[in-house]
Amino acid sequence: MPKKIHHCVNVILVWISIIFISSYVAGQPGPVKNGHFENGVVVCASAYGAQIGADILKQGGNAYDAAIATQLALAVVYPQAGNIGGGGFMVARNAKGQIQALDFRERAPLKAFRDMYLDSNGAADLHKSQDGVLSVGVPGAVAGIFGMYKYARLPFEKLINPAIELAAKGFKITAAEAALLNRFKKDFERYNDYPVAFVKKTDWQQGDLLIQPELAATLKKIRDQGASGFYQGETAQSLVETVTASGGIIGLKDLDGYQATPRTPVSFDYHGYQIISFPPPSSGGLLLAQMMGMIAPFNIDTMGFLSAKAIHIMVEAERRAYADRAKYMGDPDYFQVPEKELMNQHYLAARMKDFNPQKATPSSAVNAGNVYEHNETTHIAVADNQGNLVSITTTLNGNFGSRVVVKGAGFLLNDEMDDFSAKPGVPNMFGAVGGVANQIEPGKRMLSSMCPTLVLKKGQPYMVVGTPGGTTIPTSVFQTIVDIIDYGKTPGQATEAPKFHHQWLPDQIMLEDGLPVAVTDSLVQMGYALKTVNGIGRTEIILFDQKAGGKASPGKIGMQAAADIRGDDSLAGY
Ligand code: DON
Repeated sequence: MPKKIHHCVNVILVWISIIFISSYVAGQPGPVKNGHFENGVVVCASAYGAQIGADILKQGGNAYDAAIATQLALAVVYPQAGNIGGGGFMVARNAKGQIQALDFRERAPLKAFRDMYLDSNGAADLHKSQDGVLSVGVPGAVAGIFGMYKYARLPFEKLINPAIELAAKGFKITAAEAALLNRFKKDFERYNDYPVAFVKKTDWQQGDLLIQPELAATLKKIRDQGASGFYQGETAQSLVETVTASGGIIGLKDLDGYQATPRTPVSFDYHGYQIISFPPPSSGGLLLAQMMGMIAPFNIDTMGFLSAKAIHIMVEAERRAYADRAKYMGDPDYFQVPEKELMNQHYLAARMKDFNPQKATPSSAVNAGNVYEHNETTHIAVADNQGNLVSITTTLNGNFGSRVVVKGAGFLLNDEMDDFSAKPGVPNMFGAVGGVANQIEPGKRMLSSMCPTLVLKKGQPYMVVGTPGGTTIPTSVFQTIVDIIDYGKTPGQATEAPKFHHQWLPDQIMLEDGLPVAVTDSLVQMGYALKTVNGIGRTEIILFDQKAGGKASPGKIGMQAAADIRGDDSLAGY
């Protein structure tokens, strides 16, 4: 493009951005839960985040540009999980059909060691792994953003400026956000002996402005200096000082040495669809492959949707897959994960051999299989009309992570160290147990359950899906795919469907309200213990129109999207 025209286009784009940004700051757009779009769509935990991403698409950005802008916006407007001080995973497909899986998971600091959370009696002290500076893993989010940026199109400043504006000028919080900030006020005060943006003298109310000038300054450093604006210089110095002032162990070398790692995604066939998801150090993709492989021969579509019979089969598959998770899954750079063996169809069929159609199998009778014989997280789903698909799950782990805000830099640090197995058999905050595969080692990545997923049909885009929810993540993604592929549900119906979850230990089905009493009674009769919980996951879905055959022909494709009804989740597209 000639320089002059390029300049004019840039000026126009800046003005468009200013107009959009002013409207972001003026007021929180209401959440939009369902929609149909032809050009592109962004689904995420916040209406601001979705709108910013969709505006980037309108300005000529592709799905990667939009995903980056949304992720940066969520670091401001969704501080309980959106972040620059945490980590996550991206699975994406570009317009040429190439697949990327990028691992920007946190790592254990170099000074970490296996028994660091055990007290003098050898008991695990889970407060230390879940709150405060010792729970913090070396953040990967910013390295991840620049890893994704290789596939983006627009100048980086365009992607980060909306987030900077929102942090500097503030944004109006929702009722749910006000309640959450009030609930965590004591923790913010306990873990930060300096003023932080999340604490206000009086209680937060819906519509209050949350202003984060220190975070804005940090984002500007990232804009102007790239990843080194975070991993080196003042930001890195502040992070290390904040952590070490309270006895933490992250050093400058940890930050300087952090790199996002490309991985080979988990890919498998389910009923003629290609499912692509995240490999270790997440257990998400492997669990999904195992659960789907175990139920594939059962013709679940002939059983009623959410019938006791169908739930029984799915739960037994969940139970067996999670038993394998505890023994075999960890960071592949430190532990040899038998991926192929765990996904092998014969192995999975053998795992279901003792399935009893009438009765629950007690977890005490289920162990990890013998494969060696044979040898507040948040999800962003983006699609554009060129066939680029991006699925990102990112997290600080618990709500607001460690609750530690880096002094002077205004961003929250994760508490991801709790995803390691602090001691064999001791459950972490999600009740997950583990052993050697997921023990703490310096530089190692803690095992995740995050499961950003793409589904292709005949090589063309079909679905983008993901959710938060700790260990319930893979089971929510599993059920969503089954609901859509086997039962023909719409994305809206699939997000709304009550979810159920079994993770081997504890031996119970966690489930949401909404199943008919006849179904829950049947499950109890089969021998299941049921535990009703308040909300499993927040699933974001984009489904390509089947009538278009998922063909990524520009301008012709239709995408049906749904944002989860359980929170402020929202979507925007055009
Ligand atoms: O990586 C994991 O599996 C967890 N740290 C995810 C945490 C999460 O989903 C919290 N949100 N509900």
